[in-house]
Formats: sequence, structure tokens, C-alpha cells
Amino acid sequence: MSENILIKVRDLEVNFYNNERCNKVLRGVSFNLEKGKIMCIVGESGCGKSVTANAIMGLLPDLSRIEKGEIHFYDEGKDIRIDKLKRKGKEMREIRGNGISMIFQDPMTALNPVFTVGYQINESLLYHKMAKNKTEAKEQSIRLLKDMGIPLPEKRVDEYPYQFSGGMCQRAMIAMAMSCQPKVLIADEPTTALDVTIQAQIFELMLKLKNEKDAAILLITHDMGVVAELADNVAVMYMGNIVESGDAEAVLTHSAHPYTKALIQSIPVLGRGKKQDLQPIKGSTPDPYNRPKGCQFAPRCEFATEQCKEEMPPEMQLEPGHYCRCFHSLTGKVG
Ligand SMILES: Nc1ncnc2c1ncn2[C@@H]1O[C@H](COP(=O)(O)OP(=O)(O)OP(=O)(O)O)[C@@H](O)[C@H]1O
Ligand SMILES: [Mg+2]
Repeated sequence: MSENILIKVRDLEVNFYNNERCNKVLRGVSFNLEKGKIMCIVGESGCGKSVTANAIMGLLPDLSRIEKGEIHFYDEGKDIRIDKLKRKGKEMREIRGNGISMIFQDPMTALNPVFTVGYQINESLLYHKMAKNKTEAKEQSIRLLKDMGIPLPEKRVDEYPYQFSGGMCQRAMIAMAMSCQPKVLIADEPTTALDVTIQAQIFELMLKLKNEKDAAILLITHDMGVVAELADNVAVMYMGNIVESGDAEAVLTHSAHPYTKALIQSIPVLGRGKKQDLQPIKGSTPDPYNRPKGCQFAPRCEFATEQCKEEMPPEMQLEPGHYCRCFHSLTGKVG
């Protein structure tokens, strides 16, 4: 196994149990996160991106269960099975403190309402030994808020989360997650609703973390422009499966799965103006409680055959490092 792998997810299956109904949200997800690489996960709403991220953080809700599969964190020679750890246990908390950091999709839930924003950043800096004492921590907190484009940081640092707008909470949380220089950073739609300049600054900080600290970054985003600019690897998810994955260049420029192609044509690229020829993906995602038998995309796919409707396509290698779950990806039938 490559020494560069920090996170290895294998055949992960996660079910949610609601009112005695079972929703098979992840259906055999596998991927690696490597040192010094950014992997982007893309896919429509509800396909399982956040559940994948939360599983790595050991933060799945109580109504869900890991049914199968493995999540490994390779931390300085130690092989830690995250899927076996207690979600609220000491070991998991230590990993969340020292190894893997996450920027959550919903920033309001991640800051503690009873402490000032500055206090929370200070504590994080002191805990991770990024600052020697409280004075130094406060100086750094102010600088971090300033870097995130928060006006009047000297004043804002003493305010509570409820005094911050949603966008400012998000920026404070990003400052906190990045300031402890994690080995693995998981960013779940970190810049939604932030303006383009701030977004660019945040991506700049992520690149710095990747290049200077050799961190592995898992970036969940809807923005293909961001993917094209930042991703080393891309995983395309549909209804709980990774349907295509590989080098960003390969997946974006010679995508093989009909879903990947449709997705690329359907998503606007920020900053490219209104003149984009966007094609919405035909049909809608199936009811998760009443899934198709074979390929999950078959009901929406113009290339679907009887085999696609009956059998789930296995992962096939198209070229070194480029994988696809489509029976037609090797035949050249998919235009
Ligand atoms: N707390 C929960 N309770 C019940 N079901 C849930 C919960 N969280 C997720 N799910 C189920 O898991 C599926 C995947 O959810 P997830 O949040 O991972 O989607 P996502 O890909 O992150 O979507 P989005 O782009 O909208 O953030 C959802 O469609 C939903 O059915
Ligand atoms: Mg999500």
C-alpha cells in the first residue's frame, strides 16, 4: 500500500433507520485520501456526500449504522480503524482534535453559542500548541479573522456566535479548522454563500495547507469551476455509490459515466457569467426506499439496456487510476 495514504475507505455501507424503514444511504463506497492531494466529491443533493464525510469524522447520527466496510486512518505508522471507534469516545475525540478537522456544511451548529468566537479559536490554538499563551492566541485569532475578511476583527473577536451573520460564522469556523493544521481536512461545501473574494482566500489557505503541510483534503462542492481549479482527484457520487473516480483531468475531460457527463453539463461554473449552455439532468433521483434493481442511474440514462436495469455494474478500470461503474464505459457506446 502506498505510504502516502492517510485515509482509506473500503466498501462502506451505511444505513439510516427512520420509523422502521431502512434507507441504504451508502452502498459500498471506496476511496483513498493521500498526503498533499485534494480529492473532490461531487454529486446531486442527497447522494451521500455529507454522510461519507461524517462517517470519517465518527459523527454519524444515532439513527444510522455502519453495516459493512472499513475506514482506516494511518497516523504516523499506526493503523486506526475509525469505523470501530466509539463515536463519542476519547480516541475519536483525540483524532478530531489532532488528526482530522472538518468544516461543516452548517456552520451555525459547529460553534458553541455560550462562548465568544475568539475564546473558541484561542482554545483551539492553545490545544494544538499553535500559540504559546493566551495573549499570543488572541493575537493569532484576530489575525485569522482578518485573513477571513471579517471586518473590525479586534472587536469581533469578543463577540458571541449569535452576533455573527451565517457567513461570518462559516468563516470563523474555517479559521478554526485550518488553524490547527490538521493532517486531514474535510471541507463540506465550505464556501457556499460566501463572496468570490473570500472564497478565493479560503482556497488559497487550503492550497497552502496541502503544499506546505502535505495535508490530505477532502472537498465536497457543487462548483465544477472549483473542482477544475483545485482537485487532484475527483469522485462522482450517485445514490450512495461512487460511479466514477480518478485524476481530475481524466474525470473532467474524458468522463466515461453518463451521469458524470450529465452532471458536468448541468452545473454552472461560478465566474463564467450567464452565457453557459446548461442542460439539466433528465428525470429525478429515485426514491431511496424504492431503488432500482441494477444501475441506480438506469431510469434516467439514455444508454440503459436490460443488463443495466437488472445488475449493478461493478467498478471497472478504464485506464490506470480511472474507474467507472458503467457496463458501457468500455464499449465506447456512451457518447
Ligand atoms: N439525519 C438524517 N436522518 C435521516 N436521513 C438522513 C440524515 N442524514 C442524511 N440522511 C439520508 O442520507 C441521504 C444522503 O444525505 P447527505 O446529507 O449525505 O446528502 P448530500 O450528498 O450531502 O446532499 P447535499 O448536497 O444536499 O448536502 C439523504 O438523502 C437522506 O435520505
Ligand atoms: Mg451535504
